[in-house]
Amino acid sequence: METTTPPSNGTADAFPKKSLEAVDIVVLVLYFIFVMAVGLWSMWRTKRGTVKGYFLAGKDMVWWPVGASLFASNVGSGHFIGLAGSGAASGIAVNAYEWNGLFCVLVLAWLFLPIYLSAGVTTMPEYLQKRFGGKRIQIYLAILYLFIYIFTKISVDIYAGALFIQQALHWDLYVAVIGLLVITAIYTVAGGLAAVIYTDTLQTVIMIIGALILMVFSFIKVGGYPGLEEKYFTAIPSVRAENTTCGLPREDALHLFRDPVDSDLPWPGVLIGMTIPSLWYWCTDQVIVQRSLSAKNLSHAKGGSLLAAYIKFLPLFIMVFPGMISRILFTDQVACADPELCKSICGNPSGCSDIAYPKMVIEILPIGNTRSSCHHHIA
Ligand SMILES: *[C@@H]1O[C@H](CO)[C@@H](O)[C@H](O)[C@H]1NC(C)=O
Ligand SMILES: *[C@@H]1O[C@H](CO)[C@@H](O)[C@H](O)[C@H]1NC(C)=O
Repeated sequence: METTTPPSNGTADAFPKKSLEAVDIVVLVLYFIFVMAVGLWSMWRTKRGTVKGYFLAGKDMVWWPVGASLFASNVGSGHFIGLAGSGAASGIAVNAYEWNGLFCVLVLAWLFLPIYLSAGVTTMPEYLQKRFGGKRIQIYLAILYLFIYIFTKISVDIYAGALFIQQALHWDLYVAVIGLLVITAIYTVAGGLAAVIYTDTLQTVIMIIGALILMVFSFIKVGGYPGLEEKYFTAIPSVRAENTTCGLPREDALHLFRDPVDSDLPWPGVLIGMTIPSLWYWCTDQVIVQRSLSAKNLSHAKGGSLLAAYIKFLPLFIMVFPGMISRILFTDQVACADPELCKSICGNPSGCSDIAYPKMVIEILPIGNTRSSCHHHIA
């Protein structure tokens, strides 16, 4: 473990100033060109002249783009930061959100979607208008959704995406935010849902392959699952307040269902409480429902849900575990327990677990790394 911890010089930056090598820039540029090409191809492919063509991708999607897109619209860069960060801070319980969603996405296709289809609606406000009449509920819900999207989703994902760009390219955070918004807006507005679904599918494939590679590297580094099981509990930062639990790993870190009274995620809440917002999200949220509705017919919509549910098994392995391994490898930084030290490491006095995943990406992946950290573990 000592050999992998970067030399700490007191004011250690969380991320050593490594710049990208030419090969990374080429990969990045190719990636952007590829995404743009897929967006343009789907723009040309689908008829966007009608509401159905534009908003529902011609209602012609087969199951696999639907499933991949359901997954990609749920899991973004925010998940990598958040799940890995929570994994580093408190173990695997956070994964309950993912496995809860796994069942809810099935409820969407088997329970809710048939109702939406037979009512012939394309949005939730439209459904409520048909069901209850009048205009008030419809307008109220539409406006509420706009606020919820801007403040809870778009902002989080754009921030997390920009954080990655900032760490990799050393761009200003605001330039990265604006860049992401402009590129997304161009293909979304110009291409309609078809462009979004195809680019989502591409992103899902790239995201999962990349994350699996990182997972394999991180498990090799920590000595497999037994290594994780053993070393996580000794990943205690060297500087911490005495006689407190601050900075100590939780004893129930490897439990999904935790004490109902005095734990951070009590199991009755996980089973019952969490299911309510989860059903709301998976079965009524426009971002999700719209993708499901774009399927050719109900069979393809169900297939899409099934695919998304299967992929939802992965986050525990490709996000939470690597986050926990990050704590083992970079204990003093990821698990820092002293407010002033944390502030100097990641700029946030209340803790640095959010850097768990980006730290892994930058330190462990061989490409784009300055030889150091990958060579001595292979040797
Ligand atoms: C911590 O506890 C030990 C005994 O349990 C005591 O001797 C020591 O003074 C305590 N340290 C602080 C900083 O309170
Ligand atoms: C949906 O379409 C597929 C062909 O793409 C067909 O095999 C299947 O029977 C259809 N399902 C329903 C419920 O119409």
